Amino acid sequence: MTAPENGDEAKPMRKIRSFVLRAGRMTEGQQRAMDDAWPKYGLNLCDGRIDPAEVFGREAPLVLEIGFGMGDSMIEMAKDQPEKNYIGIEVHTPGVGRLLNNATELGLENIRVYREDAIEVLADCIPDGSLDTLQLFFPDPWHKKRHHKRRIVQPAFAQSIRKKLKVGGVFHMATDWENYAEHMMEVMNAAEGYQNVAGDSQYSPQPEWRPVTKFQKRGERLGHGVWDLMFERIS
Ligand SMILES: C[S@@+](CC[C@H](N)C(=O)[O-])C[C@H]1O[C@@H](n2cnc3c(N)ncnc32)[C@H](O)[C@@H]1O
Repeated sequence: MTAPENGDEAKPMRKIRSFVLRAGRMTEGQQRAMDDAWPKYGLNLCDGRIDPAEVFGREAPLVLEIGFGMGDSMIEMAKDQPEKNYIGIEVHTPGVGRLLNNATELGLENIRVYREDAIEVLADCIPDGSLDTLQLFFPDPWHKKRHHKRRIVQPAFAQSIRKKLKVGGVFHMATDWENYAEHMMEVMNAAEGYQNVAGDSQYSPQPEWRPVTKFQKRGERLGHGVWDLMFERIS
C-alpha cells in the first residue's frame, strides 16, 4: 500500500508497512540454523512464483502463516499435522532462526519459510487459488488510532488473500485486541466473496488444533480476551 507524504504528490510514494523491524539478537543456535538450514527450508522472494508441489515434493493441503513470530506454534501444527504443507512468512530474523532450528531438530519435511514482507510474498510468489488455509495469528494491533492504517487487515488485503485461497479455503485470524477484532469483523463482513464460517458477525471458538501462541499467552497474562475469526472463500 502506498500514500503520498504530506500530501505532496511530487514526492516519492512511501510504503505503509504492517511492521517495524524489531532489534533482536540471534542466539548462536539461531544463527547456525540460518546458515545451515536455510538451503533446505528457506524460500526467496527473488525466485518469484513457486510451485508448491515442486517445493515440497508432493501434493498436499497448503497452509500459509503470516507473522509466525518465534514460530513455536507453527512448528507444533506442522508436527501434529504431517499431512499438510506449511509455509511461514516472518520479517523478524531471530524468529526465523528459531523456527529453522526447531524444524531441523524435529526433522520436519512439511515446512518452508520466507524472511520477507508478506505483502510482497503474496504478490510475487504464491500462486492464485493455491491455499487451503491462510493463518494470521495475533498480528500487530497498532492500537493508536493514527496507526490504524498500518493494520495488515484492510479491504485490499482481504481481496489479495481471497485470490490466493482455493474456493472453500479459509482465512483464519485471531487477536487479543478487541478493537482489532471488531475491525477485522467489519472489514471481512464487507469483503466480497467470503462467508463467515461461524455465522453472520460471529466469532469462532478457538479450534483445538490451533496452539496457544506466544502473543496469545502474553495477552492472557494482561487479562485480554481472544477472538478467532474464520472466513471461507465462497467465490
Ligand atoms: C504480534 S506478533 C505475533 C507473533 C505470533 N503470531 C504470535 O502469536 O506469537 C506479529 C508478528 O508479525 C510479523 N509481521 C508483521 N507484519 C508482517 C509482514 N507484513 N510480513 C511478515 N511478517 C510480519 C512481526 O514481525 C511479528 O513477529
